[in-house]
Amino acid sequence: MKTEIISLPNQKEASKKTKLDYNNLKVMLPSSFLMDWGKNKKFCIRTYGCQANVRDSEIIRNYLLDIGMTEQDDFLGADFVLFNTCAVRENAENHLYGELGLCKNSYLKNKDMIIAVCGCVVQEDEATKFILDHIKHVRLIFGTSRINSFYSILEDSIKSNKRIVNVSSNDFDVYEEPIGSKDSRLSTIKAFVNIMYGCDKYCTYCIVPYTRGRERSRKEEDIINEVLKLKELGYKEVTLLGQNVDAYGKDRGEKYAFASLLEKVAATGIERIRFTTPYPSDFNSEVFDVMSKYKNIMPSIHMPLQSGSNNILKKMNRRYTREEYLEVIKSLREKIPHVYITTDIIVGFPNESDQDFEDTLSLVNEVKYDAAFTFIYSKRPGTPASKLIDHISDETKHARFDRLKILVDSLTTLSASKFVNRECKVLFDTVSKKDKTMISGYTEEGKLVHVKGDSSLLGQIKTVKILNSHTFSLIGEVIDE
Ligand code: SAH
Ligand code: F3S
Repeated sequence: MKTEIISLPNQKEASKKTKLDYNNLKVMLPSSFLMDWGKNKKFCIRTYGCQANVRDSEIIRNYLLDIGMTEQDDFLGADFVLFNTCAVRENAENHLYGELGLCKNSYLKNKDMIIAVCGCVVQEDEATKFILDHIKHVRLIFGTSRINSFYSILEDSIKSNKRIVNVSSNDFDVYEEPIGSKDSRLSTIKAFVNIMYGCDKYCTYCIVPYTRGRERSRKEEDIINEVLKLKELGYKEVTLLGQNVDAYGKDRGEKYAFASLLEKVAATGIERIRFTTPYPSDFNSEVFDVMSKYKNIMPSIHMPLQSGSNNILKKMNRRYTREEYLEVIKSLREKIPHVYITTDIIVGFPNESDQDFEDTLSLVNEVKYDAAFTFIYSKRPGTPASKLIDHISDETKHARFDRLKILVDSLTTLSASKFVNRECKVLFDTVSKKDKTMISGYTEEGKLVHVKGDSSLLGQIKTVKILNSHTFSLIGEVIDE
């Protein structure tokens, strides 16, 4: 099969911090050719990584449903298989190559199967080259900025019988998603709403600015309309998404625009609002004021720390010191005393010393996070940190990681135990796969709760008395029938 290269990734180009004009694109409608092609065909989507990817997969899933295709869980027997990939750490990438290997068996049984790879991995120069040269059963490669061209990429490939590569690293757009009665998200209760795309922070270890482009904020009216529509459709919760939500509007030169957006979202009256992720030095008291004013903004913050050492924070190009981070936590707790705080921490950044690591432990102990995601530093191609020569052994990094994990888990267990005997509002959204009489949901803080019940609880917010706690979940009983 011939390959048509429309555009390739170019990480060097992506690292140029030029401001780009962007259009607010509206999604395309499918041609009659695709409507015909899709009939009686099946698709399967595998999604890796963050909420931005989950949302992108939902959008592509919608495109496929709109041309009459049906969804299935397995590759085998599917006519179209999509891998929406994550590049943030090396193991996510390796996992993808394993899955692509497994998918080959299904492809060999049906060579008309179209296998597509999109997401952050294909924004890496080397990865796309590797897939093109070595994974011949991949037919479509399209970038994170090409989702709104999905129909034309698919149609071109079917008509020309070619492999198509359409990635690009320098012309990211803002696209508006279809929202209406046909907008079928993965959940009918909770929805992700993008408020901005990309990242301008260039932390030295991180690949995201190269894979998702410059920061671009959606228009406020588009976001509010989406939330209103979701509310009308019966959604109970929205999570506003962006790599640095508190930088919302900065690309248009606006100040404090996130606080004002959040207030407008709260005023829609949707029952629950969350947002992720705030960047510590952009977080300001205007946002805290709005949070404390509206009951429908959940008292829960995920604020990445990365390291507790000023030396490492500087090398990571994080734009705050340990002291400034602690100051943000302090004023957050002053305004919202019961706030639930979680974080991300990286262990083993190149040449992290024992003292640097101790500084991270002491900060974690001081903040007493309710939970945290901990990662071992992973070298990402093309990032500034990947050029550093590291003198710390893998054994040391793993030993530090284990120590941090023990501390974090003990704090999570302690935080969970404080819920016992409390009455919490829980939004139920899942029936247990193993035991149909167990229903799960989340407290306002974001803690997972299991209760005995039936599917009539789904989509409802109930008062639950917490009876028991484990590290990652609580057991309770519904007290307001
Ligand atoms: N926007 C977020 C980060 C998104 S990436 C922020 O404000 O920091 C999600 C998390 O992955 C990061 O918080 C970081 O802890 C982790 N991460 C990113 N790059 C990594 C790398 N090269 N190695 C290990 N962990 C990494
Ligand atoms: Fe990555 Fe730092 Fe942005 S962690 S997503 S470059 S804030």
